[in-house]
Amino acid sequence: MTGKIIGTGSYVPARIVTNDELAQIVDTSDEWIAGRTGIRQRRIAVEESTSYMAAEAAKRALENAGTDAEELELILVGTTSGDHCFPSVACEVQAALGAGNAVAYDVSAACSGFLFAMDTLWAFIRAGVYKTGLVIGADCLSKLTDWRDRSTCVLFGDGAGAAVMKAADSGLIQTVMGSDGNRWNVLSCVSRTNGSFADGKAPQLGFLHMDGQEVFKFAVKKVPECIHQVLEESDTDIEQVKYFVLHQANYRIVEAVAKRLKQPLDKFPMNMEYYGNTSAATVPILLDEMNREGRLKPGDRIMLSGFGAGLTWGAALLEW
Ligand code: ACO
Repeated sequence: MTGKIIGTGSYVPARIVTNDELAQIVDTSDEWIAGRTGIRQRRIAVEESTSYMAAEAAKRALENAGTDAEELELILVGTTSGDHCFPSVACEVQAALGAGNAVAYDVSAACSGFLFAMDTLWAFIRAGVYKTGLVIGADCLSKLTDWRDRSTCVLFGDGAGAAVMKAADSGLIQTVMGSDGNRWNVLSCVSRTNGSFADGKAPQLGFLHMDGQEVFKFAVKKVPECIHQVLEESDTDIEQVKYFVLHQANYRIVEAVAKRLKQPLDKFPMNMEYYGNTSAATVPILLDEMNREGRLKPGDRIMLSGFGAGLTWGAALLEW
């Protein structure tokens, strides 16, 4: 028994912010951003909250799966930018869906959040605890971005993606997840609740900080490594993999991973051009686009992989 993705959905905010628009705020250019990252525009949540985006993506996934919200036993949201410290985004999604029979909580693994959440749901399904669950990657990093810092504010966008997973005979084949807490400060965001009793300080909103080159080097090394590990553990030849659906942070990272894996770039779909890095949402948004475009056929083997703050990373091989 395994878990199969039977439906996907996604939601991105209506507001488009182009590179040219950012060049009016900070000292940057479309040429620099597109050349270094592949990003040309991103969606920024002006009206939308993280839980709203997550719930919209979830509704679309349920509809795509033909699953009623009341069938859901577990709702997991990979996010690091919930609207509240508590309750979780997952509980807010549960309320929006009317999924009264589900247990709901968030998984914090930054950009690897969707993969980590999916892996958790898969473990519950294999253990026979739950049969039907919903996994979401949703982030609104625009709220945590210092819009004066050109080295980070050009990279991110907001959005959410979701997948319904059900117990089945085929589906997820193998996963590998990893984390290295020793390198937490490579990419971090100060807590939003840093009020201090000692200093009498009021809570403030923290900004994210990143050592871009360290993240780049880490991703280019770790992503191929964990993909190879998944292939080895599942006794799968890399040529059997039809698509590699990677975290959409930077096209140069995707290119470097393709090169290291000795695989043609056309097996690596990309959409960061339109959405930027939506953190935990990149993988499920891309998966949903591919699903709706009819690019995924029953029996196709797809490799998902993500990396992010923690540091965290993961890969998952599945049969569509
Ligand atoms: N516009 C113009 N110039 C810029 C900008 C900008 N937006 N940002 C930085 N620069 C300048 C720098 O100041 C520097 O100038 P200097 O040479 O005069 O000092 C120059 O450009 C080069 O800066 P680098 O940081 O060396 O540029 P690099 O080629 O490393 O590209 C980037 C930076 C795009 C951030 C790259 O390191 C990267 O993609 N790293 C991975 C980041 C990532 O994937 N993060 C998210 C992953 S985890 C998660 O998703 C939460």
